[in-house]
Order: sequence, then structure tokens, then C-alpha cells
Amino acid sequence: MTRSRNGARAAHPLAVRIMHWVGAAAVITMMLSGWAIYNASPALPFTFPRWATLGGWLGAGIAWHISAMWVLFADGIAYLGYGVFSGHFRRDIRPVGMRALARDVGAALSFRLGHRLGHYNAVQRLLYSGVIASLCVAVATGLSIWKPVQFGWLAGFFGGYPVARGIHLAMMLCIAGFLVVHLALVALFPRTLVSMVAPLEAEDAP
Ligand code: HEM
Repeated sequence: MTRSRNGARAAHPLAVRIMHWVGAAAVITMMLSGWAIYNASPALPFTFPRWATLGGWLGAGIAWHISAMWVLFADGIAYLGYGVFSGHFRRDIRPVGMRALARDVGAALSFRLGHRLGHYNAVQRLLYSGVIASLCVAVATGLSIWKPVQFGWLAGFFGGYPVARGIHLAMMLCIAGFLVVHLALVALFPRTLVSMVAPLEAEDAP
């Protein structure tokens, strides 16, 4: 746990702030380049507009996607290791139960959800643990469809290549949905954005 010189706890430790922004850049790069790859052989009855893709065509999309994958992979391993061994996941991210979730969802829908820097409410905990799990499944299914021979056992675990591809696409939609809600919550509480950049002190628990 990071503490400032006067002993107060930082809202977000430096390690979390660095890993968050490296991971966010990698995820957004992967999503936009993934849309360029998807457009070359759409599995659903729609394509993404070319301006919203990174690379614009299959070859460049794959180059961006695989490059960013290594960044996300390294960042993800570091983040998972930090989260488990520092107690950050258990203390700050672990979902807190249906009653707290129902209370905070109700408060969020009526725009009464409060926020204390350095503490995640039940909605955030559910969203963060959900997106971390979705990212892990997205990386695993991605590896299995990228190298279906070398990672044949992994593709088999997911039910074969076409199913793994479908799950990979579904995880992308979950992560995109998370981002919409995540950015809306950040817009509602802009102070949290400052705390994810600068070493602001955590506030007292609600
Ligand atoms: C690019 C725009 C993004 C912005 C402006 C942003 C902003 C923030 C902010 C301000 C927080 C702290 C919230 C608080 O203090 O209550 C946060 C936390 C978090 N964000 Fe983002 N985020 C972005 C992208 C992403 C992406 C792409 C992901 C993953 C798909 C992500 C996953 C997370 C997670 C898991 C946390 C909790 C981190 C922890 O404490 O371990 N964010 N984000």
C-alpha cells in the first residue's frame, strides 16, 4: 500500500496508475485493430466503419493487434501479480455482495451514488472484476485462434476454433460495454480521473 510523506494512503498506488494507463492504451489499440481484422471476414451481419478501425485493412490490423497483445500480456501479468500479492484485489476489487450491489445500483440509477477517492463502490467492484475476467478470457481465446495448431489444446478447451472465435468477439463486446459505463462514471466523478494520474490522498471510507 502506498503512503504519502504524512502517512496518508494514496487513492491509487503509483504501480496501479502506471499499469492502468499502459493497459488502457493496449486495450483500446487492440479493440480498434480487432475491428479492422473483423471487417475482413465479419462473423455477424455488420462491419465497423473504416474510420473507427486501426490499421484500416487486415494486414495492418493484425500487426497492431499482435504488437499491442504483448504489451497487454506483460501489463496484465504484472497487474494480476500485484493485485493478488499486495492484497489489492481482496481489499479493493472483490465484489461485496448482492445487498450492497442492489443499494448502489439503485443509487446510481437515481444519480445519488456517492464516491470517495480510494474506495470502490459495489457497482465499480462488479465492473472491474468483470472486465478483468473478460480480458483474461479475451487473451486466452485470442491466443487459441491466433495459433490454433500450437494452442490447439486451448482452442479445444473452449470448444473448438469457431466457438473460441465467438467467445473472443463476445468478450470484445463486454469490454466495449464496460468502457461506455466506465467513462460515464468517470465523467460523473471527474476527480477520480485526477486521482488516477496524480498521487491524491484517499478519503475516509463511506
Ligand atoms: C481510456 C479511458 C479511460 C479512463 C479515462 C479511465 C479512468 C479510470 C479512473 C479515473 C479510474 C479510477 C476510478 C476511481 O478512482 O473511482 C479507473 C480505474 C480502473 N479502470 Fe479505467 N479508464 C480508462 C480506460 C480503461 C480501460 C480500457 C480499462 C480496461 C478495459 C480500464 C479498467 C479499469 C480498472 C480495472 C480500474 C480499477 C483499477 C484498480 O484499482 O486496480 N480502464 N479508470
